[in-house]
Amino acid sequence: MFQFDRKDPKGRIWIPRSTRDDGALTMPPKPVRIAPSILSADFAALGQEIEAVTAAGADWIHVDVMDNHFVPNLTIGPVVVKALRPHSRLPFDVHLMVSPVDPLVPAFAEAGADTISFHPEAGPHVHRTIQLIKHHGKRAGCVLNPATPLSSIENVLGDLDLVLVMSVNPGFGGQAFIESQLAKIAALRRAIDALGKPIDLEVDGGVNPETARRCLAAGADALVAGTAVFAGGPAKYAANIKALRG
Ligand code: DX5
Ligand code: ZN
Repeated sequence: MFQFDRKDPKGRIWIPRSTRDDGALTMPPKPVRIAPSILSADFAALGQEIEAVTAAGADWIHVDVMDNHFVPNLTIGPVVVKALRPHSRLPFDVHLMVSPVDPLVPAFAEAGADTISFHPEAGPHVHRTIQLIKHHGKRAGCVLNPATPLSSIENVLGDLDLVLVMSVNPGFGGQAFIESQLAKIAALRRAIDALGKPIDLEVDGGVNPETARRCLAAGADALVAGTAVFAGGPAKYAANIKALRG
């Protein structure tokens, strides 16, 4: 049986997992990971921005890759990820909003991505894409759009390292949190705990201190935030990140 408190000595929240009838936790709790989305950073100074959020206590660096085809925006390619890689020791959490996915996986893996996540709608062979990401030695994630049901990945859930729930429609930062996604987060928490595998459950879009609390209560253990982290400039990053931890 695992014992846990809501906060560890560093003040980080630990997420309660589903319990068995005897009250024992089925899995050890994980600390919340905060992943600043560099979409909201100063693009003229991305290297310094990544250094600043790393020093401010971020856990992962979230990189939003958009292709003006799968989503209506155009952002960062593998050459930029490669250039940014030396600016932080933190894992790079690369969110591919591109179609097709497979041709870009090797380039992002070589550029220094640690986790590569993709949308199941973006390619016809979801399991093959997961295998491809793992073949390159990277952690594989699937991303669920607001209208995409959990069932779209249930047959591959055990092959994943991460599931990312979109709480906005992908394409832009600064959008409002979509409430209906809380039920999906809770359902995923139950599905992951039933599997008994340490799959990360991340939420992306409209995350601020208030919505963060509700995501964590629903069972999320990683939070992406762009607007809420980068608001106010570098002097505010540490406080902004701390506020998202609850
Ligand atoms: C949206 C991106 C998000 C976005 C989050 O397509 O995947 O990562 O940048 O931005 P905020 O936190 O501003 O909603
Ligand atoms: Zn994202």
